Amino acid sequence: MRVLSGIQPTGNLHLGNYLGAIRNWVKMQDEMDAESQCFFFLADMHSITVHEGREQRIRNVRDMAAALVAAGIDPDRSVLFNQARVPAHAELCWLLNGTARIGWLNRMTQFKDKAGKDREGASVGLFVYPVLQAADILLYQATHVPVGEDQKQHLELCRDIATKFNTDFSADVFTLPAPIIPKESARIMSLRDGTAKMSKSDPSDLSRINLTDDDDAIMAKVKKAKSDQDMLPETAEGLAGRPEAGNLVGILATMTGRTTDAVCAEFAGKGFGAFKPVLGEVLVETLRPIRQRFLELRTEDAALDAILDKGAAKAATAAEPTLRAAYDAMGLMR
Ligand code: TYM
Repeated sequence: MRVLSGIQPTGNLHLGNYLGAIRNWVKMQDEMDAESQCFFFLADMHSITVHEGREQRIRNVRDMAAALVAAGIDPDRSVLFNQARVPAHAELCWLLNGTARIGWLNRMTQFKDKAGKDREGASVGLFVYPVLQAADILLYQATHVPVGEDQKQHLELCRDIATKFNTDFSADVFTLPAPIIPKESARIMSLRDGTAKMSKSDPSDLSRINLTDDDDAIMAKVKKAKSDQDMLPETAEGLAGRPEAGNLVGILATMTGRTTDAVCAEFAGKGFGAFKPVLGEVLVETLRPIRQRFLELRTEDAALDAILDKGAAKAATAAEPTLRAAYDAMGLMR
């Protein structure tokens, strides 16, 4: 088993990232056997699609590295690195640009969402972003890719690119990866709008819980979260058509390892005035140790840099045979 996943180091790690992906990364790392390996990386080459100053970018990488370690990624057991330090990602991306089709990229909903109405003004990088993501995965022969629901389409594209490359060059260069998407928390929604995904780029900080928010901020955000006037139903079926209610109940279910039905049964007939303090308390207690560890690690730049140095060296070694095989299959002399 080769587990691989990435996260963009832009802004804070938020509850959506944590429940949709990072918690699964840690679980897979902790359950790994001796034959398996985990690779987790900061997608800083992807983050160039968002304009950021030099100093901020440097800070972002250290922030996200510290957040991942604080959340449970152990750099002695998993390979933790930043993409920019391993040039094989950019090289394989270029090779795969010969295989990926414009029609395939045109269908990517994330590109459409992020480019918005001004498609002509979007960067080329934003358009080919999923090709770099395919390179990230295929370079390491990843078999399992733990991600949130929003990455499913990118994973399907990655499989299409791998299949076409292997077929076009009659070579078995790439392994087809399987997405690992959690059942309960694959799509955590904004606390201000139950129809929009919780995201780093939402201008309202009230829309998300950041892993750096202190106890008071977490509780205040939960209390201000949009809900509705109705009582909680007896079963999850009664949440249909109530996106905000469904999201809050889903978060509590995931955080406490229960089904949404079980949470509904507990709160049936009660309103959100009774529900929110319970949810807030669970979030505060779960996130507090992660935040405290993050704040400690964040004072240790040299230690974080050393973790990333070591990870980059291991990643580069692991990526090399596949990159070489891809050049060779294409008849490119390197
Ligand atoms: P990114 O940085 O947007 O998000 C990191 C991970 O968090 C998940 N996620 C969510 N899950 C549930 N609910 C939400 N509201 C939510 N928001 C984010 C994402 O699904 C993701 O798993 N393109 C990727 C980074 C990447 C990557 C890769 C991932 C680059 N190369 C290779 C896997 C394999 C991204 O922008 O994730």
